[in-house]
Amino acid sequence: MKALVAFLLVTSIVATTHGSEEKPYQIHPLRLKTGSGKDGATVQGITCASWRLAVEAHNIIEWSTVPAECGNYVGNYMVGQHYRQDSKAVNREAYFYARALNLTQDGKNIWVFDIDETSLSNLPYYAENGFGVEPYNSTKFNAWVDKGIAPALPETIKLYDKLLNLGIKIVFITGRPLSQEKVTASNLKNVGYHTWLKLILKNTTEYPGTTAVVYKSAERKKLVKSGYRIIGNTGDQWSDILGTYTGNRTFKLPDPLYYIS
Ligand SMILES: *[C@@H]1O[C@H](CO)[C@@H](O)[C@H](O)[C@H]1NC(C)=O
Ligand SMILES: *[C@@H]1O[C@H](CO)[C@@H](O)[C@H](O)[C@H]1NC(C)=O
Ligand SMILES: *[C@@H]1O[C@H](CO)[C@@H](O)[C@H](O)[C@H]1NC(C)=O
Ligand SMILES: *[C@@H]1O[C@H](CO)[C@@H](O)[C@H](O)[C@H]1NC(C)=O
Repeated sequence: MKALVAFLLVTSIVATTHGSEEKPYQIHPLRLKTGSGKDGATVQGITCASWRLAVEAHNIIEWSTVPAECGNYVGNYMVGQHYRQDSKAVNREAYFYARALNLTQDGKNIWVFDIDETSLSNLPYYAENGFGVEPYNSTKFNAWVDKGIAPALPETIKLYDKLLNLGIKIVFITGRPLSQEKVTASNLKNVGYHTWLKLILKNTTEYPGTTAVVYKSAERKKLVKSGYRIIGNTGDQWSDILGTYTGNRTFKLPDPLYYIS
């Protein structure tokens, strides 16, 4: 109500100014600083919505957990329509791009997908573990992964089906360790990812303590060196799409829950 009154006030000032010819036209703040942050949640002077945008745009980097102040905000974002809509915007654009390509059908065109928060969603886990506010607990998280019941990210499986129809082959590259290969493969199949060219998991002997950006670049390089063309690459982390051999186009899905270098 207060905002509405202020808005009307501003519009009437604009109207008055416009009416009097002697005064130069002035730019007035047409909208007040309200919006997604209206629940009052802020962190260090910015709204949680602005925190999330800065995270997605890779301006805030290397953060370890969601600020406690933004836990509710992030939870509402993730379980509500907003996250679904943001994911749809990304995957729809990826499809428009792929559809417009005139691809040589020689079986060499591939699309790289990350797995967690890209192909599969761990939202059921994060909903029970503080939506990224609690520090990462590998024991707990691996126990969840080992159940093999992560649902598909609905918008990604739509893109997956469309890419297959365009004759593009799918490669999954995940930071999950080789020890989770079986459960990951069956989880993917159970939720509808029925075929792929390669499912690449992290060989921790080959990549001991290696960052995702280095490991994933190295695996993409192997693909390119063996004759594949990475025409698209989709992930929820910047480390999925930065580095080398990133592919002709990259697509960044939203993920305000955690950050992986
Ligand atoms: C698509 O590619 C084929 C073969 O490379 C070429 O003959 C054709 O003109 C291309 N079509 C368009 C619309 O670019
Ligand atoms: C991680 O989770 C396990 C299993 O719930 C628990 O036993 C352990 O104490 C947790 N570790 C930390 C550091 O919180
Ligand atoms: C993992 O990497 C090591 C070292 O490069 C290699 O010897 C081993 O064969 C690899 N394991 C698999 C399953 O590829
Ligand atoms: C992908 O990028 C390479 C290198 O820039 C280029 O030669 C190729 O035409 C591109 N392919 C597509 C499908 O855009």
